[in-house]
Amino acid sequence: MRTVDDLEVAGRTVFVRADLNVPLEATDDGPRITDDKRIQASLPTIRDLAGRGARVVVLAHLGRPKGEVKPELSLRPVAKRLGELLGQPVAFPDRSEGGVVGEAARAVVSELKPGQVALLENLRFEAAETSKDDAERAAFAERLIELADGDAVYVGDGFGAVHRKHASVYDLPLRLPHAAGGLVLAEVRVLRRLTENPDRPYVVVLGGAKVSDKLGVIANLLTKVDRLIIGGGMAYTFLAAQGHEVGRSILEREQLDAVQGFLADAEKQGVELVLPVDIVAATAFAPDADHDVVPATAIPADREGVDIGPATRELFASKLADARTVFWNGPMGVFEFDAFAAGTRAIAEALTRVNGLTVIGGGDSAAAVRKLGFPESAFGHVSTGGGASLEYLEGKELPGLRALEADTP
Ligand code: 3PG
Repeated sequence: MRTVDDLEVAGRTVFVRADLNVPLEATDDGPRITDDKRIQASLPTIRDLAGRGARVVVLAHLGRPKGEVKPELSLRPVAKRLGELLGQPVAFPDRSEGGVVGEAARAVVSELKPGQVALLENLRFEAAETSKDDAERAAFAERLIELADGDAVYVGDGFGAVHRKHASVYDLPLRLPHAAGGLVLAEVRVLRRLTENPDRPYVVVLGGAKVSDKLGVIANLLTKVDRLIIGGGMAYTFLAAQGHEVGRSILEREQLDAVQGFLADAEKQGVELVLPVDIVAATAFAPDADHDVVPATAIPADREGVDIGPATRELFASKLADARTVFWNGPMGVFEFDAFAAGTRAIAEALTRVNGLTVIGGGDSAAAVRKLGFPESAFGHVSTGGGASLEYLEGKELPGLRALEADTP
């Protein structure tokens, strides 16, 4: 992949696709960003380009508005935060004047001076950005290009979105001279270390609510890892597949066959599959719900599992102790509630003690380690991409990376 150093950017309009999809909380003063890690991670590339005299136009999405204008998903607060972090104003066109790529956007882009930065409104307010129809996406990409009046280049730096075949991720780079930004290159470099000859034992920890989100990655990992540790909500479908009662815990009945297949495959491939042995079972999904530790094989019918128990915390930590490579995606319990965060904390702590490469896949597990107060420096790499890193490990071709690898038009 070409890097930004290979591009002539001075005086040119540079579209930078970033992943600025940050969590927001509604407050009386409007939406508040609760975790700005993705904005922080996007700064080096934007700064570098602006410093080299580019006219930087950042492209991004927020949430899934599905082609509708949802004011609560406006990128305006993100533009403000980006400006604060960059230490320079970030121009932000008003979408109500002609749409996301309408007159206001055109005016902002044409007025940008070398070294200045703009962010366009949430691209997903336009249905064409995420359309499955190639022609619709292509037409939207052409409209973006028209904003720049002819002399644009493209930098793909939104690693968290590279698994999406969207206009700004896939179609736009195919039409412009392009390069990968430093964030994308760094993420790919680390993920490659996991897929190409990882140091062993290679241990993967998967959690999170749904096994259905991770079918592809589990199938692929069973051919690659030495040990697969399963916790979080998805563990209950594994326990049920082994014939145990899981009470009112989250259970995906329609995945029981698939999970039984994984249990059999793991045995066949010699992969050690480690499941919880005890569970924190609560009377309700609430921060102050009554709860007890119960055996994972006997969750009472009126209880739901909300975290792994103390014996499981020790077991999982012991299974990580000799690892030389670890990938972790998905919390072990409802870490958002303090009473049920111990399992997720224990995994994070165990990772900090690993003598080797530790990678935290983005999404909830990355947010969890930050919320629980672990410095990022305690881990080898904390990815900005949740779905993107899982799809990479699944061995899928990611459209955004494919476009960046394509020859320049
Ligand atoms: C993410 O949050 O993982 C990325 O920003 C991609 O968002 P999406 O899953 O809505 O495409």
